[in-house]
Amino acid sequence: MTTASSDLLAALRGRYATKAFDPTRKIDAATWEVLAQSLALTPSSYGLQPWKFLVVTSPDLKKQLRAVSWNQAQVEDCSHHVVFLARTTITEADLDRLVAATVAARGVTTESLAMYKGFMVKDLIAGPRAQHIQAWATNQVYIALGQLMASAALLGVDGCPMEGLDPAAYDRILGLEGSGYATKVALPLGYRLATDKYATLPKVRYAASELIEYR
Ligand SMILES: Cc1cc2nc3c(=O)[nH]c(=O)nc-3n(C[C@H](O)[C@H](O)[C@H](O)COP(=O)(O)O)c2cc1C
Repeated sequence: MTTASSDLLAALRGRYATKAFDPTRKIDAATWEVLAQSLALTPSSYGLQPWKFLVVTSPDLKKQLRAVSWNQAQVEDCSHHVVFLARTTITEADLDRLVAATVAARGVTTESLAMYKGFMVKDLIAGPRAQHIQAWATNQVYIALGQLMASAALLGVDGCPMEGLDPAAYDRILGLEGSGYATKVALPLGYRLATDKYATLPKVRYAASELIEYR
């Protein structure tokens, strides 16, 4: 096994859903910038990036959010509380935004992307998936959650993926009504307290041989 392989597995085995953060330890700016880039690099279906990420560091906001997160202390004691938002609708403007970004990044013409856009319209705006667009966007957001969790683990930053929250209350507190984005899940990030007993619990995972079938 190469060093990179063993480092990766050690990081993934070492990560755990942190229950107790050290409230005095903050993620430094350089480390946070890497995590921010990791979030922005997340892939998505069609490349549409139907999301936004709110990073809450304000003690007052964290306190309000803790109250609507099953009173979980991680929300208040973490360094950066990352809230994952999904687009509530997909409109032609979303597709045009992606087309414009592709033109800018790859130096191609808008016309050359007309078929691609047409395909997205047929699928996401006019097709049956349009009925379930929030669920589709939410699926994309969870890819970002996974990528950020793995990235944090590799950098030695602890986190606790969190669905134990009231999304509508988050939307209200964060002023998201009418923004086109809605709260789906959160990931408080920071550094564990040495006394967090969850850090040393054995992992409960089914064997890869039970989960992965080769054909
Ligand atoms: C999407 C998601 C939501 C979760 N929500 C919570 C939560 O609200 N509070 C909590 O303490 N743990 C939460 N967890 C943590 C899981 O219980 C934990 O990841 C799982 O038991 C595996 O343990 P490990 O992450 O420590 O390896 C969540 C995990 C995921 C992936």
